[in-house]
Amino acid sequence: MVPDPREGVHITSGQMKKVYSLKDIDELQRKGGLDGIPNDAIITPSARDRLKEFKMSDTEKTAPAKGLEGVVAATTKLSSVRGLDGELIYRGYNINELAGNATYEEVVHLLHRGKLPNAEELASLKTELAAARELPGGVVDIIRQLPKETSPMRAIRTVVSALACYEPPEKQDSMEVQAKRAIKLIAQVPVITAYFHLARQDKPLLDSDPSLGEAANFLYLIDGKKPIEEKEKTIDMCYILHADHGMNASTFSARVTIATLSGMYSAITSAIGTLKGPLHGGANEGVIKMLQEIGSLDKVDDFVADCLKNKKKIMGIGHRVYKVLDPRAPHLQRMAQQLGAKLGETKWLDMSERIAEIMLREKNLYPNVDFYSATVYYSLGLPTDLFTPLFAISRTSGWTAHVLEQLADNRLIRPRGVYDGPDDLKFQSINER
Ligand SMILES: CC(C)(COP(=O)(O)OP(=O)(O)OC[C@H]1O[C@@H](n2cnc3c(N)ncnc32)[C@H](O)[C@@H]1OP(=O)(O)O)[C@@H](O)C(=O)NCCC(=O)NCCS
Repeated sequence: MVPDPREGVHITSGQMKKVYSLKDIDELQRKGGLDGIPNDAIITPSARDRLKEFKMSDTEKTAPAKGLEGVVAATTKLSSVRGLDGELIYRGYNINELAGNATYEEVVHLLHRGKLPNAEELASLKTELAAARELPGGVVDIIRQLPKETSPMRAIRTVVSALACYEPPEKQDSMEVQAKRAIKLIAQVPVITAYFHLARQDKPLLDSDPSLGEAANFLYLIDGKKPIEEKEKTIDMCYILHADHGMNASTFSARVTIATLSGMYSAITSAIGTLKGPLHGGANEGVIKMLQEIGSLDKVDDFVADCLKNKKKIMGIGHRVYKVLDPRAPHLQRMAQQLGAKLGETKWLDMSERIAEIMLREKNLYPNVDFYSATVYYSLGLPTDLFTPLFAISRTSGWTAHVLEQLADNRLIRPRGVYDGPDDLKFQSINER
């Protein structure tokens, strides 16, 4: 008699037996053990398939594409990267709607609280952020003690990790407590960056100005004076463009870490470490170094040809998901053009445009977010090694939103690997090896 999968029990030979459905198997798997299923259990066909899949050895599974290309790792309501259309969406808003219209704080509200704020909600969020900026004294001491020549990204990663030591131990905290931690991090990562920059120059560490928004306060701290409106607006726009970006490497890293329930600070420390790499956030610094190495427009063609011949990557070009132009790039390109025209210095932009032209022609690859942001930051007179930290400052809003989203419906993220090594080796004593 074929058991009805909808029934919880089935009677055979006068005995009541539980019917294991797909739901039961998933539930057991979630609880960590499939051992409790009796050998003569009645198992529905779909549940049997799931069991087979679970028991299959690593070698029987096909490996996903290298670098997990095309693999969907999570469901998110925060942002969508539409690679073929060249679109980036934050909670339903196309980035082109937000850039130039919203402020960074409005975007933080959108990502964290699910909607664009009204005036009262925005004022309240700004007050929360301003009130959360002050760093614990012990953290400021750590910043002062770091070697002056260390890179700011290393410093920020270290100090964010240290911040956790000044918080009560992270347990099964409420979402409300976690959300407060997120606001603290969004407010404190810029202060950590600015303080490290000042400390390494033996400059005094200014107090934040609560009347200033996030972009203006950061510029105030590093420059010692309130920024002109144009500079503030430019950085604010850069913050908006970098705030979130689907399941990018650092966000994935943050989600993997928080999924073990290791805590918000661990997750953001992981994310910063991941962003630092030159194939991710570190590329913007790489762009300006590359332009400096090339030196002048007339040397661009040879430089690019040489890189292509030797399979060397051109920083700021190409993207894993976008197969057309990165939608953030034109906003940054426009800002770079405006700043260049104002300063009467278009050399870096001219070189960039030429590189982009050749790369499109030769490899069908487009500029990404880092390509023009480098020229924007450079034109604003910001130190090169603060380019990637600026990315980290803004992306902290996205990372923390993803951490909260993961926590709200958490399950350990634990993929499999396909074993590609030898089998059946026999142990040899140390003298025989
Ligand atoms: C972003 C990036 C890591 C995506 O990498 P990916 O999806 O793994 O793509 P691959 O590295 O496998 O590259 C695929 C092909 O494009 C080429 N390519 C990709 N980006 C390139 C670049 N920036 N310069 C030169 N060639 C590049 C590769 O050499 C490869 O060519 P091949 O098939 O002829 O060997 C890659 O484009 C890159 O390294 N870009 C430069 C760093 C950068 O700007 N990072 C910031 C990303 S926002």
